[in-house]
Amino acid sequence: MDDGYFGEDVAATYDESEASEFEPAVVESTVGFLAGLAGDGAALELGIGTGRIALPLAARGVPVHGIDLSRAMVARLRAKPGGDAIGVTIGDFATTTVPGKFTVAYLVFNTIMNLTTQAEQVACFRNAAAHLEPGGCFVVEVGVPALRQLPPGQTVVPFRVGATSWAYDVYDVATQAMSSNYVDVTGGRGAFRSIPFRYVWPSELDLMAELAGMRLRERWAGWAREPFTGESRKHVSVWQKP
Ligand SMILES: C[S@@+](CC[C@H](N)C(=O)[O-])C[C@H]1O[C@@H](n2cnc3c(N)ncnc32)[C@H](O)[C@@H]1O
Repeated sequence: MDDGYFGEDVAATYDESEASEFEPAVVESTVGFLAGLAGDGAALELGIGTGRIALPLAARGVPVHGIDLSRAMVARLRAKPGGDAIGVTIGDFATTTVPGKFTVAYLVFNTIMNLTTQAEQVACFRNAAAHLEPGGCFVVEVGVPALRQLPPGQTVVPFRVGATSWAYDVYDVATQAMSSNYVDVTGGRGAFRSIPFRYVWPSELDLMAELAGMRLRERWAGWAREPFTGESRKHVSVWQKP
């Protein structure tokens, strides 16, 4: 198994991102939300990466186990203080099983969309549910598909326009395939990177949860439990196993 789209080149600078997800206040509110659901139990992070959330969650006393297919990302986690105390299983989080039962499983930062077929996303919900204790919760943080931003007849939404750096999403509304594309010019030479995703609707995720034997318990527009409305750009959803 290779490192997928999170190889050494991405892992090397992942934690230097200027995305809002890396702001201390955002991390703290994410961790507070998850710690509340974990209670006295353990947490399972699908796509644990470099431990952006897992490490501060573990520092609060919640035992955390992770699944990730990128050894390069997990090496970054291991190199951080407390990183050696977190168990990580290398594998695909749609199908990989780990020992133990968890009070919360979570899949944040749009990572459900890294599974590029509906079947894989359904398998992921089933896998998460299988790891939960009765009453346990599965939490997903993901964007609402940005189709309202598509100009009529077009399929491209730019999200970064700079002097030497451009980024844009491409949507295929027939298949729900999308990709995020990055063009960077350094020293007069251009580099292009494209990552495939599958966008997915909140209601579709609810159905996946039902298929996996879970029910929607909460849906918010963010980790501070902002109300979810028709204008929300993302959601934090919690499904519960009976
Ligand atoms: C955007 S990063 C998020 C990392 C971390 N959860 C965070 O919030 O910072 C996505 C992570 O999911 C992992 N990943 C993507 N698809 C995966 C899959 N099918 N199975 C396991 N890990 C996967 C990547 O290797 C990467 O570490």
